[in-house]
Amino acid sequence: MAETTPVEPSDAPKMERWGTRLGVILAVMGSAVGLGNFLRFPGKAAQYEGGAFMVPYFVALLVLGIPLAWAEWAMGRFGGCKGYNSTPGIYRTLWRKNPLAPYCGVLGLLVPVVIYMYYVFIEGWCLAYAWYMLTGQLTLGKDAAEYGKFFDNFIGSGSNGLLVAQHGTLAPAVIFLLICFVLNFALIFRGISKGIEKFCLIAMPMLVVCAIIVLIRVLTLGTPDPSRPDLNVLNGLGYLWNAHTTNKTFLESLANGQMWLEATGQIFFSLSVGFGVIITYSSYLRRDDDIALSSLTSCAGNEFCEVALGGMITVPAAFVFLGAAGIAGKGTFGLGFVTLPMVFEMMPLGRFVGFLFFFLLFLAAVTSSLSMLQPAIALLEEGLGIGRKASVALLGFITLIGSLFVVYFSKGLIALDTMDFWVGTVGIFILAFFQVILFGWVMGLRTGVEEINRGGTIRVPYFVGLVLKFVAPLYLGGVLVTFLYQSFTAKEGNYFLTLRDSRDAQLTVAFIVIVAILFLLLIGQSVKRWQKRELMAEESP
Ligand code: ALA
Repeated sequence: MAETTPVEPSDAPKMERWGTRLGVILAVMGSAVGLGNFLRFPGKAAQYEGGAFMVPYFVALLVLGIPLAWAEWAMGRFGGCKGYNSTPGIYRTLWRKNPLAPYCGVLGLLVPVVIYMYYVFIEGWCLAYAWYMLTGQLTLGKDAAEYGKFFDNFIGSGSNGLLVAQHGTLAPAVIFLLICFVLNFALIFRGISKGIEKFCLIAMPMLVVCAIIVLIRVLTLGTPDPSRPDLNVLNGLGYLWNAHTTNKTFLESLANGQMWLEATGQIFFSLSVGFGVIITYSSYLRRDDDIALSSLTSCAGNEFCEVALGGMITVPAAFVFLGAAGIAGKGTFGLGFVTLPMVFEMMPLGRFVGFLFFFLLFLAAVTSSLSMLQPAIALLEEGLGIGRKASVALLGFITLIGSLFVVYFSKGLIALDTMDFWVGTVGIFILAFFQVILFGWVMGLRTGVEEINRGGTIRVPYFVGLVLKFVAPLYLGGVLVTFLYQSFTAKEGNYFLTLRDSRDAQLTVAFIVIVAILFLLLIGQSVKRWQKRELMAEESP
């Protein structure tokens, strides 16, 4: 593929901008730090036996996560300087020769919007659990089954429609969902610097303080039960970090393609890379604003929150009270919403610590879910030419239908799981793959690396570009092919079989396709509008 001719971006008039450098770093970090850090990461690491999982995790961070974050920041700022904030607009500027380029931006809208639909539901659970901790409604004794029943009832996992029909009035999970919905859209309505940036400037430090208090409590738990001296904090940390593989050698564990996919997916999910989010956020930068150090700082901040805070709270806390048996096979939600509330109940000062934990989860979730709305808002505004009120109302309507879909198909959380797999994992991979190609092969290495370094406080070396051009596509492709092969042949947790056998999963996929078609139609309209505008600009003297 030919490299694009380097074009000097020019500042577009009257665009929204970030207020401060700290603000944009915290906003991107806020998008990254979320439920992925405090729930998904410990859940996956525990599932894949800790130490073995950390190998593909760090490889993916260094080879894909950090380089791709730089690429997204660079492409976003480039597009923003041309006057575009949405992925269709930005891809169109970057790949002018290809009339299909803006349509490739559909994933940059679909991925964040569909993830938002189920993510905001979980955000509501966190707020609810924080409230329940504070008011003592989760004081259910020491029987895990009670907490399990409470959670299943709360999310209506027994059968579809429970949250709508069972209560005769709005179920608590729906009420908390609606509160989160209103908060997100109120902040989005206020805009980039007055809404997102201001909120992140307060919420990010607040959540880190909460996390540090919870962490101190967990690390000072010692050996709560003297008759079980093996259940201590050090062994709890070892459970997560040591490469202890049962019935397998370490190398055999590493040969698990599914684990490589999950670890790579976790890096993308956690950094909000391949989400369509960073590219939109960075489009609100000025031409010479630093991106080299800002991007690295956001990634480092996210990893601190994930590995140092998230990794050291959930699993060790559960281990010292329940041992390995209390953690193994629990899954992300089981660990977070069934095991942990019971552990907080057993812990001195537990109710307060539990409140802080779920409140920090809630804050982390809001700063992430906000970022998932902005890409579509950007398209509606610049593509259809509608104002903030109309774009917020339209997106609010679309996402509300999606969230209610997830709420209705609550049996076994099938809709949520299906969206998380096909969009929150596979979709992110495909989008990341496309963006790697766009940066390395279309924008071109020299232009791309220069764009990363323009205005930079540090210099990103040229070899990062080489990694993005050659290593990243091969690596991503390799993981995807291995994953597809293993998924087709897997006996358990096979989403292809689920899709074949479950009507609910089929309906969910059909819903995702409908949303994708809607976005494609919107992109079509936007392209027409942009072409007309360009024609008028050419004709005017
Ligand atoms: N990056 C966000 C998270 O980790 C989506 O939850």
